[in-house]
Amino acid sequence: MIDHSRIRNAAFRAKVTTAEEAAKYIRPGSMVGMSGFTGSGYPKAVPQALAAIIEGEKGKGNDFRIRLFTGASTGPELDGALAKVNGISFRMPYNSDPILRGRINSGETEYLDMHLSHVAPMTWQGFFGEMDTAVIEAVAIREDGTIVPSSSVGNNKTWVESARQVIIEVNSWQHSALEGMHDIWYGTALPPHRVAIPLLRPDDRIGQATLKVDPSKVVAVVETNAPDRNAPFSPPDASAKAIAGHLMEFFRHEVAKGRLPQSLLPLQSGVGNVANAVMGGLEEGPFEDLTAFTEVIQDGMLGMLESGKMRVASATAFSLSPEAAESLNDRMAEFRSKIILRPQDVSNHPELIRRLGCIAMNGLIESDIYGNVNSTQVMGSRIQNGIGGSGDFARNAYISVFMTPSTAKGGKISAIVPMASHVDHITQDSQVLVTEQGLADLRGLSPKQRAETIIRNCAHPDYRPLLQDYYNRAREGSFGQQSPHLLKESLSWHQRFIETGTMLPG
Ligand code: COA
Repeated sequence: MIDHSRIRNAAFRAKVTTAEEAAKYIRPGSMVGMSGFTGSGYPKAVPQALAAIIEGEKGKGNDFRIRLFTGASTGPELDGALAKVNGISFRMPYNSDPILRGRINSGETEYLDMHLSHVAPMTWQGFFGEMDTAVIEAVAIREDGTIVPSSSVGNNKTWVESARQVIIEVNSWQHSALEGMHDIWYGTALPPHRVAIPLLRPDDRIGQATLKVDPSKVVAVVETNAPDRNAPFSPPDASAKAIAGHLMEFFRHEVAKGRLPQSLLPLQSGVGNVANAVMGGLEEGPFEDLTAFTEVIQDGMLGMLESGKMRVASATAFSLSPEAAESLNDRMAEFRSKIILRPQDVSNHPELIRRLGCIAMNGLIESDIYGNVNSTQVMGSRIQNGIGGSGDFARNAYISVFMTPSTAKGGKISAIVPMASHVDHITQDSQVLVTEQGLADLRGLSPKQRAETIIRNCAHPDYRPLLQDYYNRAREGSFGQQSPHLLKESLSWHQRFIETGTMLPG
């Protein structure tokens, strides 16, 4: 049921209208910044109404597409609905919607896949052009006219500040106890006026709980009552559990060596099933009083906050399965003191990640034998999701871990390949590589030592001899001996998969 009391300011109440009317403010070709991050806190009604308008216009032979900017991925009512009518000409900075993925991979939509910490500063710097409209989901509008964001903050502050006009969706499904969970830092500035962000611990609150908005820019307020829609997580399989097990053993070893405290360091956990399973491993593990300085809070992290294993989590969004989202919504007030949601230019800030000494744990598509990591493009050319915050964290972490099952697509693809078909993270940014086969601690190793360790510890037994054979022959025939390669052969596994459906030789 719609809770009309969420709009506590009379001037904003006077702007309440339908999604259909609000969507009419969005013009063909315009740049639109919408809220939303990993399936949380995205507007649900206006994008669908816009998709209907676009479809109508296309039926009349008129072209209608927008340039769409968000925090990160959204949901079927936004990316899915707009992609279905082919209404997105340009998209950035992250997507996981299958319909939009198809549009990008067929070449119909231009996609700019970029570090999430760069998006707001590059917008302030004016590199993307003029933002026309911001569409932001909120929990409430306060008496003072400030906006309470919902289950993500993402780039909301930046969109609201830079857009010519603002549309607000007030969603009664989002729990009112989210109010007070956000921490919006208003101290950002461009160089040479930039100042240090005064955040020394993940639990520091440095800003205010709401978003400021110039009321004269707000053209419409729409009331909704619809859940965030996120994909469910697969229950951790044997492979994910093995990865988590190797990682727990590694952490125990690092604590024993005195290189990590017993409470570890602030954790960053990436998106995806494996990352979620690792949270499950930590829940069972011996480490207490954990903290997170991360981008998204997944089911596993919520479980640790609930059990008391984790003291506090700082993030920019939730990324929960439908069950966990419902369950969180029932008990939101319990979590208010344990969760802080920040703008993504703060949650992913390289300076803060380095300062706090985060432990970064991210998934990957493939790694080559030297530890160059491809997080984004299958066979070097087909986008899966995007780099997201993995680069922000991997480059600046205290320890940067990448993890993956050693094979994909039922064993037809090896996640460890001679040469990565696309590189998101260079060897210097991948320090620990984990598969269900084992863990490779690459810190302090030269490229050849890294290759030997990765092949021995991480490759699947079906591919290990093939990798060893490639490496041995590369040692003989390579142009140089720093990172030996046979250039005619280095991407042949990918070509074989494209031609035969498997990387394994016939
Ligand atoms: N070749 C082809 N497909 C591959 C692959 C490979 N080498 N490795 C994984 N995939 C496919 C899987 O088959 C699966 O496809 P499906 O959905 O059609 O079944 C999909 O990628 C997800 O793989 P999965 O094994 O379930 O792992 P995951 O859920 O942990 O996701 C990434 C792995 C790399 C896709 C994910 O971690 C990601 O998008 N990372 C980049 C962004 C990021 O790291 N953000 C973190 C900062 S918060």
